[in-house]
Amino acid sequence: MNTQITFSNKPRATSDTQTLFFFEKNKPASNLKLLKPAQKRLLLDTLKNHTDFKGKAGQILVLPLSKDKKPARLIAFGLGKAKDLTKVEAENLGGKLFGVLKANGAKKASLLLDVPAGEELSNETVQAHLAFGIQLKSYNFDHYKAKPKDFSAPPKDVQIVTDTYIDTRTQYQTLEALAGGVYMARDLINEPPNMLHPESYAKRIAEELKPLGVEVDILDEKKMEKLGFGALLAVGQGSERSSKTVIMRWNGLDKSGKDSQTAPIALVGKGVTFDTGGISIKPSAGMDEMKMDMGGSAAVVGTMKALAGAKAKTNVIGIVGLVENMPSHNAYRPGDIITSLSGKTVEVLNTDAEGRLVLADILTYVQDTYKPDIIIDLATLTGAIMVALGFEYAGVFANDNELWHDLEQASNATGEKLWRMPLDAAYRKEMESDVADLKNLGSLGRWGGACSAAGFLEHFIDKSVKWAHIDIAGTAWWKSDKPTTPKGGTGFAVRALFDFITRQKAA
Ligand code: BES
Ligand code: MG
Ligand code: ZN
Repeated sequence: MNTQITFSNKPRATSDTQTLFFFEKNKPASNLKLLKPAQKRLLLDTLKNHTDFKGKAGQILVLPLSKDKKPARLIAFGLGKAKDLTKVEAENLGGKLFGVLKANGAKKASLLLDVPAGEELSNETVQAHLAFGIQLKSYNFDHYKAKPKDFSAPPKDVQIVTDTYIDTRTQYQTLEALAGGVYMARDLINEPPNMLHPESYAKRIAEELKPLGVEVDILDEKKMEKLGFGALLAVGQGSERSSKTVIMRWNGLDKSGKDSQTAPIALVGKGVTFDTGGISIKPSAGMDEMKMDMGGSAAVVGTMKALAGAKAKTNVIGIVGLVENMPSHNAYRPGDIITSLSGKTVEVLNTDAEGRLVLADILTYVQDTYKPDIIIDLATLTGAIMVALGFEYAGVFANDNELWHDLEQASNATGEKLWRMPLDAAYRKEMESDVADLKNLGSLGRWGGACSAAGFLEHFIDKSVKWAHIDIAGTAWWKSDKPTTPKGGTGFAVRALFDFITRQKAA
């Protein structure tokens, strides 16, 4: 993790920056008694005469002190209206504060934060989520640079100062594990496709998750051929790299106890490490971004890491299908008819509609093998979901209202925006082929393409299973910074999935 966050009831003498917090109308949310008397006087006098700083959300006032003393500066930071301070808002403010600390050259900062009792959220909750926002925003991906471009090194060391620091630290521990999952998902997405391919990806999952107690099984091509993964293998057959399916099991429930959950939740992820489109090749402009076509799998792996890191009391299966979609003499073709693991045959009309073929086989496999109650699949599946929702919301196609309701709740709690989209018999029908059971491109082409893609997947879902398909094509990769997410791979859905899973009651 990039920022080391520590907790104490006293500001350390070595911090170069001290931050004081204020609600609107400059109501202090800091214990100002912790400041040296002269500094406290300076701060209060400045605030009294200041016409701009009013403690509005994200407002800042920097007071330089002596350059070679510690602290070298005080920063007043606005928290806005106390009643608007939700967990998500605290995280966003933490992200913003990280930017302020960085811009002011802070390397070691003490945050004096004390939310008075009687507000909606407890002091500990605000602090822990503010720290979480800082941690999420301090992520960067620069290990391929000889020298990081940004010489103003970010604050590596942030201390939260409060009387309740022990409780804050406890709350933060879970969030830190969650941030670890988000970091891993972002790292995987940001890795270039020459480095992260199905073989190296499978290895990396095993290396990072096994030490945390996650059971990891890798199915290689030989095994998948034997089992009958005809759809997934067709997508990968044009690549020099061999396809893999990786199964991750986190058993956080006491096996012998009555809380042992036999029918678990399954998370399923599309892991196309690079999507050229195959023989139906994509235009070259922007094709580099197709390294993020494994964003669904990254969300699954990141969530498994977070659950294990937090020792979550739940049993969850994660499964990801890892392939590279390449054109070659050996690639699958438009016109091919392939047989999926379910036994259903699929006419390939466009080799760029590959994600649904990968998902089809791993959805069948996870249902047959583990009989889960709930399946959530995540995939950068269609450009069409971006036509519908842009980059703000991911689209959720759910066959169960309660499942959708729980996902919506997780979305609201974490700020990862989800919007329900329709499943319909008409979309399923659209995917029926004249010559095979199904075809991978709907009769209406790209019109309603996110919905027909979901309709295709629904052909592979058992009626008894509660299922949600989340199309994250617009949210797995952002071209610009957001409050807690630097541009690039976002790790989208790790937070919402973690929230969703840890809230579920054991079956
Ligand atoms: N990986 C793409 C979808 C995608 C597009 C993800 C842009 C992220 C950003 C997917 O495999 C794809 O190519 N889908 C096609 C489907 C079409 C051929 C039916 C698409 O959306 O154009
Ligand atoms: Mg494609
Ligand atoms: Zn794709």
